[in-house]
Amino acid sequence: MDAFEYRDTTLFCEKVKIEDILSEVGTPAYIYSKNAILARYHELEAAFQDNNVLICFSVKSNSNLSVCKILADEGSGFDVVSGGELFRALKAGASPSKVVFAGVGKTDEEIRYALENDIFMFNVESTNELEHITRLAGELKRMPKVALRINPDIDAKTHEKTTTGKKENKFGIDSIEAEHIIKQSQHRYPHVDICGLHVHLGSPIYTVDPYIHALEKITSLVYRCRDAGVDIAYLNIGGGYCISYTGEKVIRPKDYASKILPFVKKLQCRLIMEPGRFIVGNAGILITRVIYTKKILHGKSFVICDAAMNDLLRPALYDSFHKIWPVNTVIKMPEGENPSEKDMNVGVVDIVGPVCETSDTFARDRVLPVVNEGDVLAIFSAGAYGFSMSSTYNSRPRPCEVLVDGDQYRIIRKRETYEDLIRGEDI
Ligand code: LLP
Repeated sequence: MDAFEYRDTTLFCEKVKIEDILSEVGTPAYIYSKNAILARYHELEAAFQDNNVLICFSVKSNSNLSVCKILADEGSGFDVVSGGELFRALKAGASPSKVVFAGVGKTDEEIRYALENDIFMFNVESTNELEHITRLAGELKRMPKVALRINPDIDAKTHEKTTTGKKENKFGIDSIEAEHIIKQSQHRYPHVDICGLHVHLGSPIYTVDPYIHALEKITSLVYRCRDAGVDIAYLNIGGGYCISYTGEKVIRPKDYASKILPFVKKLQCRLIMEPGRFIVGNAGILITRVIYTKKILHGKSFVICDAAMNDLLRPALYDSFHKIWPVNTVIKMPEGENPSEKDMNVGVVDIVGPVCETSDTFARDRVLPVVNEGDVLAIFSAGAYGFSMSSTYNSRPRPCEVLVDGDQYRIIRKRETYEDLIRGEDI
């Protein structure tokens, strides 16, 4: 479903006019569509249903409690990377028996918290971590399931800052070392049940090839483990499933499934996936008001907004492209990344925020209808790694979050106040 669409000259989320939300909550504000989140979750579930897949929503992509609850209510599992994310998932109603815990630096406190809650599985990234988990599990008289995260040394052709499966990256364990660990597991790591393998190659990934390449490498490892008498019952292929930021078509779950499922079936493993962006990315926008416009003599034009890099970091950190268009406009939003200026009343502008850094730029040389102070812009595809990566840099209170469901909406996180900014500080 297309959660956000223009009807006549104004933007809607499902059946709600964005303007109506704005008049109540102000800007900047994140707005999410509940039914778009559900549609994406169900699309993935349907594509992989043959395998009794365990979908673990990646909490880091959008950790709002209400968003997590939507998925928990559907029976989704959760992929967490910290004690804080586990706390959120449990608060949202997650079943601990569907929680997987990844990350290269789990502390003893976090491991203990996860053990006490009997989570489904730890994705382990080093022998040192495995030593800690087995010791703590022994103390707590638990026997947690463990998947070793394999670093397959594959270039997933994504941004260098979000590539995780190359050998120079900090993630995972080399497959030869993993085999060694698995073969020694019973006497060296007696309080863990190593029964799975995990990979996460990066994000977002625009072809299925890196997954297939990784599965080929993993397949031979599974057979070697089984020959040594250790059953590998679970294959976790991580996240990274792409979405369209430009409006152009990208591969969908059924395309992934048709290539990935044959491997999993052949190995007779249960599949685990950790999608984040795919489920929430296109289901959210960030709304921002134009504070000023300015034109440098013989130079650039700037549109200065009330949202900034502290609210949505992706363009500053990865030069990410997000479509940006006025909430009210007579000019149709163009397809693609860089349309021409042929439409009347459009200009080429830099869209920036008020933070004191040049990287506080949402778009450079972007075609945009002429806007004036007070106009409101929508920054699209901001549902993943938007609010969850926000900060209060420049002492800017973080925006509110709103959830739309049909013709209803509600605030699912209040706008922060100046008092919130100093909470916990002493003078
Ligand atoms: N599993 C693991 C182990 C991960 O590290 C990640 C994301 C995921 C699953 C979910 O990936 P997804 O399906 O959302 O692509 N901040 C960056 C993305 C960083 C992703 C980090 N790990 C961005 O804004 O593009």
